[in-house]
Amino acid sequence: SRVRHFKWETEYMFWSPDCIENVVLGINGQFPGPTIRARAGDTIVVDLTNKLHTEGVVIHWHGIRQFGSPWADGTASISQCAINPGETFEYRFKVDKAGTYFYHGHLGMQRSAGLYGLLIVDVAEGEKEPFHYDGEYDLLLSDWWHQSSQKQEVSLSSKPFRWIGEPQTPPQKYQRGSLQSLLPYCTKKFNVLTSKFVACNISERISICFASFKENFMPYIHPHYLTTTLLLLPFQDHKLLVVEADGNYVQPFLVDDLDIYSGESYSVLLTTNQDPTKNYYVSVSVRGRKPNTPQGLTILNYVPTSASVLPTSPPPISPLWNDYNHSKAFSKTVLSLMGSPKPPVNHDRRIFLLNTQNKIEGYTKWALNNVSLVLPPTPYLGAIKYRLKGAYDNSIPPETFPGDYNIMVPPTNPNSTYGNGIYMLGMNTIVDVILQNANALDENTSEIHPWHLHGHDFWVLGYGEGKFDPQKDDAKLNLKNPPLRNTAIIFPYGWTALRFMADNPGVWAFHCHIEPHLHMGMGVIFAEGVEHVKNIPDHALACGLTAKFLMKQEP
Ligand code: C2O
Ligand code: CU
Repeated sequence: SRVRHFKWETEYMFWSPDCIENVVLGINGQFPGPTIRARAGDTIVVDLTNKLHTEGVVIHWHGIRQFGSPWADGTASISQCAINPGETFEYRFKVDKAGTYFYHGHLGMQRSAGLYGLLIVDVAEGEKEPFHYDGEYDLLLSDWWHQSSQKQEVSLSSKPFRWIGEPQTPPQKYQRGSLQSLLPYCTKKFNVLTSKFVACNISERISICFASFKENFMPYIHPHYLTTTLLLLPFQDHKLLVVEADGNYVQPFLVDDLDIYSGESYSVLLTTNQDPTKNYYVSVSVRGRKPNTPQGLTILNYVPTSASVLPTSPPPISPLWNDYNHSKAFSKTVLSLMGSPKPPVNHDRRIFLLNTQNKIEGYTKWALNNVSLVLPPTPYLGAIKYRLKGAYDNSIPPETFPGDYNIMVPPTNPNSTYGNGIYMLGMNTIVDVILQNANALDENTSEIHPWHLHGHDFWVLGYGEGKFDPQKDDAKLNLKNPPLRNTAIIFPYGWTALRFMADNPGVWAFHCHIEPHLHMGMGVIFAEGVEHVKNIPDHALACGLTAKFLMKQEP
């Protein structure tokens, strides 16, 4: 295994992600940021210099568990102090498990501003994946608003609340049947593939990138998605064999399209077994919210057919945005590959989290058990480790919600409260989380939320409709082959049951991965074994009460 060093600088810069010049948050002059490629067991070192003039910055390595390096998780107010303008912070962590991951900003709405990129971990030297393929292709899906992330942030925290809407439609002259704001970015892995970035080469239909393959070629494709909306990704006339989800192998299954939500990664195998004289559409469309914009399109090109030949049949028709049965069927088919670690049969603790949309002094918020998360100025990791008083709420957040809460109607009392208490988990205990969805503030509205856990993978034991009822639902949980993941969906008016082992000393965010929802308080904080955490770099502590504490330690 190797140590891989990177020197990065973050800065705002002009860029035209969809042919329209805008300001993005880039790394080393690139957007999206550079792809990190490593092998399982390697150590990644990123020296991150903040070149922003007026904002702090952090980078979170999504899906990397950070065993032994919780201070490198890159969550402002949780694992570290934000890196101030001009400062350099060194992230140093091990990538212990092969898989396809990504990284992104974790302060304010810097993810929406464009601070993200791919992190691909290959199997260790001499090891092999349990299947064959001819080449690899990484796909980073993101969406893009013409409104700046600052303006989005102000909209979300205004009274009355202004929803940011869906990604912008491109202006008329580019609108010939394609949605540019849903951007599939491609990076090539092996030379056998070519990918052309032709975003501004406007033809009949805009192709943002071409994936070009020979006939009877089997590429291993890794779609990742990390921003706001929820997407559906079909490849015209081709089946996809899903083999991996969130860095864990799954029981392979064939699908026509992939439901992919913010925070999720998949790996799929495709065979180019169709008529090689034609090209095919790959489309992305919005799920879970009624789209007002056409789907985004790109072309799957069969070499030697010219990449500019348009497919002869129209783009694949996606199931309706609210065809939740389609999405549920997909999620429920994701099961772990035989031989994967099984969940313990019992839990030590079970936390119920009721997801509600609420009001606090007229502002629209999301809350868990009626607490809407607002992060404290002192990062939890140092505050807990050094037992600093007053760094965060000492009250323990609620373990459950009132049994008579009616999830089918808007909250009768929509008022909620801010909080930043933590769920302290016993080291090496088995924790269940039952995520319970409910009706939002508007009648007949319940949204999809993709929940992401830092520092761990969890088993997804099951999904169900209505309110979770231990009497009847416990017996239905899948303890045989539940998938290990780091992100799981809760469907409208339903519940999702997760189980994980609290085996990673540190402080870990657990939150909805839709960035505006997190910004509106949709998250909780778990912590375990913080007394075992060693070597937190001073730089991670140099703010708030931990800064004062450090100063007192000086001789
Ligand atoms: Cu990818 Cu806390 O997020
Ligand atoms: Cu959400």
